[in-house]
Amino acid sequence: MNASPSVGSEFSKGLAGVVAGRTAICSLEGDLRYRGYAIEPLARAGDFEEVAFLLLRGELPSPAEHAAFSARVAAAARGLDPVVIDALKTLAAACPTASPMDALRTGVSMLGQIEDDRAPGTPEAVLAQAERLLGQVPALLAAWVDLAAGRTPAAWPEGSIARALLERLTGRIPSAAHVAAFGTTLVLYAEHEFNASTFTARTIVSTGSDMHSGICGAIGALKGPLHGGANEQVLDTLSAIGSVDRADGWVHEQLAAKRVVMGFGHRVYKDGDVRAKLLGGICREMTRGTESQPLEDLADRVERIMLERKGLKPNLDWPAARIYHALGLPISVFTPIFVVSRVSGWTAHIIEQIGDNRLIRPLSLYTGQPPREYLPLGERQT
Ligand SMILES: CC(C)(COP(=O)(O)OP(=O)(O)OC[C@H]1O[C@@H](n2cnc3c(N)ncnc32)[C@H](O)[C@@H]1OP(=O)(O)O)[C@@H](O)C(=O)NCCC(=O)NCCS
Repeated sequence: MNASPSVGSEFSKGLAGVVAGRTAICSLEGDLRYRGYAIEPLARAGDFEEVAFLLLRGELPSPAEHAAFSARVAAAARGLDPVVIDALKTLAAACPTASPMDALRTGVSMLGQIEDDRAPGTPEAVLAQAERLLGQVPALLAAWVDLAAGRTPAAWPEGSIARALLERLTGRIPSAAHVAAFGTTLVLYAEHEFNASTFTARTIVSTGSDMHSGICGAIGALKGPLHGGANEQVLDTLSAIGSVDRADGWVHEQLAAKRVVMGFGHRVYKDGDVRAKLLGGICREMTRGTESQPLEDLADRVERIMLERKGLKPNLDWPAARIYHALGLPISVFTPIFVVSRVSGWTAHIIEQIGDNRLIRPLSLYTGQPPREYLPLGERQT
């Protein structure tokens, strides 16, 4: 006879407020910290490799460790398997308008198959896999963008991931200021404890499954507009409003129809997202007096209205989308850039989960039919 677990009548919709596990990677209590370090100086340094190393290994790198780590990640970006490129080329020819998020999910899946990634390996092997993915994922994105446009993928440029990816996605050598702003967005997107995609990745590997499967699931979870997909919708929202004088009416209409305004609100931060405040300031500095100024004026107005009408403050996606637009990036790569960054947090969590695993398997509260008798098919009316 099966043991029947006792289920209380209380539950939390969307697991809001539920502590679902332990982590030593990131804390949101009081302020946002990665491995104990406050987010602000990390974000201002804007060094994605430094942060990825910290998340994966628990300590900041020495200069020598930083150089070696960065070189391994860049080598992985340069060494993307041609089998994957060929397969993406076929897909790009068949469906060039497919979402780059789908291309990333497919690409990571292929990488796992090529590596014959079956189950968690030794801690060193899993760490090496994580480092490879940090280089492979931005290279996959850049390759897909070229292939979907009918071009042969260009070589991966020199320099940091932020510099190289920005060059690959815009086709221009970026200024130091633009690399710094882009690097800051990568640092801010890198990690955020038990968000939906990270929890998905942890759940997948908790079954004994492999790292690539965890990352594929996480990409799928991040794609949704209530999670990572919001940064693309922010720009659509600002374009739909069009001008400052239309902002009041547009927001009023959205709220009256009980539709969410993308880039506002957060499950955990109820009094504003510290990352949005930080990046919002950088965004305003970067765009002052440029052609992005009207969009910034519009964003300011929407922020004020949302605060007055709903008491809601922006989340990270609100300024990140505007920075990406100001950097000349197409909307379709906004959420994939989030993937490039969050691979660092996902892989750190996968390693943590594997290191102290217990199958993630919660209970549900049954709300269906009461017990009833089965009637064989032939005895049922019509
Ligand atoms: C992120 C999000 C899913 C959090 O959801 P949540 O924790 O379930 O939100 P809550 O239930 O606490 O919301 C409280 C109230 O604010 C409203 N609200 C929350 N975010 C809102 C938004 N962006 N626009 C309008 N109203 C919003 C809810 O509808 C709810 O209103 P009600 O009390 O009248 O029903 C939600 O804020 C959202 O959909 N935001 C837009 C998408 C987005 O930017 N996602 C990126 C997150 S980093």
